[in-house]
Amino acid sequence: MSERDVPFPPADFDPLAPESFDSPHALYADMRERCPVARADAWGGFWAFLKYDDVQRAATDHRTYITSVQNVIPRLAFTGRRPPLHLDPPEHTAYRKALNPLLSAERVARLEPQIRRIITDLIDRLLATPEPDICRDFSSHMTIRVFAEWMNLPIEEALELARVGRDFNVAVQSADDAAVRETSLKLYEIARALIAERRKTPQDPETDPVSALLAARGADGQPLPEDMIVGTVRQVLVVGIIAPTIVIGSITVHLARHQDLQQTLRTRPELLPSALEEFLRLYMPYRGFARTTTRPVEVRGRHIEPGEPIAIVFASACRDESVFPDPDEFILDRPNIGESLAFGRGPHNCVGAGLARLELLVALQELLRRTRRIELKGEPLPTRCPEIGALSVPVHIDPAPDS
Ligand code: HEM
Repeated sequence: MSERDVPFPPADFDPLAPESFDSPHALYADMRERCPVARADAWGGFWAFLKYDDVQRAATDHRTYITSVQNVIPRLAFTGRRPPLHLDPPEHTAYRKALNPLLSAERVARLEPQIRRIITDLIDRLLATPEPDICRDFSSHMTIRVFAEWMNLPIEEALELARVGRDFNVAVQSADDAAVRETSLKLYEIARALIAERRKTPQDPETDPVSALLAARGADGQPLPEDMIVGTVRQVLVVGIIAPTIVIGSITVHLARHQDLQQTLRTRPELLPSALEEFLRLYMPYRGFARTTTRPVEVRGRHIEPGEPIAIVFASACRDESVFPDPDEFILDRPNIGESLAFGRGPHNCVGAGLARLELLVALQELLRRTRRIELKGEPLPTRCPEIGALSVPVHIDPAPDS
């Protein structure tokens, strides 16, 4: 652990303080000015990088900033290492080599018809739901069904994953350690059962993620270790299903608050791909991915010892005014939107970015096409650390006349 021989500086912020949907962004704006490298006492104490340059450097310099000690704040993992997120290069490389082709642009594009069918079906149900909530009744189902399609899960297994995935999410959000442990173990069971099934009846590694991991070889030419395959499947079960749920919730809040933009995007759907990039910058759903330093570092005058956890706050970096002028404004076609860190940087950048973009785009296209107006029917419920955004968004929906 920490090699400090002087006491930690006093806390600059309290990540456990009550929050609203908007308040973390206001807090981070203040912190970027006041204490861009900040100290918190919660969860055993940690540092937070708020500025774009520092977040980008920590995500890219994988020799100084490693993920293998702790990859999220607060620390949740208690059951071993889960590739690829928990491994540093070069150990990390074999898992990315196995996963990258399965989420390539070409492979993801082939899933579009199924994704559109899933989303159309869910919107039918959403429009028939009295007092709908965009996350509860739409986006949480969407992400799990899309993910199940990608993983080739039969419907019963997809439904089981949906149930356990939702329980896991609730447990994380309510910081209920016992429930996190219990639901995480169930996710491991799902991962193990799936691997056993694919060993019995192998599928084409070109199209089936678990079969691809079973067929993959490490740098030594040997199959990947069994516990690491289990960890990888368990890892994607969670990262793949939480973020898009939240992003759709947050975008809905924005569109409901800006009816003119909602109307423009409804009548000009060709603007949606670039609108989505700006929405992802504004509503990047993660704040607490973690790194640990391998050597003492000095960042903006603050001294960090090896072994001290650091939250790299992507959500703050994406609104850093020194990179994105008027950072809280939605600006279509920002000239430097390519610099957005919504899908991370460096070796751990998001392997599922293509799939996430496609499902978010189709969801927005269909939601706007099938409706005439979406309004808020109450305050959005915010997520807690490590996510950021909307967990529940009660809405009133005026369906389009022909929907
Ligand atoms: C809007 C949706 C999503 C966002 C904003 C997002 C964002 C991110 C970010 C910022 C990272 C980097 C973490 C770090 O540097 O520590 C990451 C990693 C990762 N994401 Fe995503 N993600 C999304 C959806 C998905 C989906 C749908 C999948 C899977 C199908 C996925 C799989 C992964 C995996 C496996 C990693 C770890 C990569 C590695 O360690 O090499 N993500 N994601």
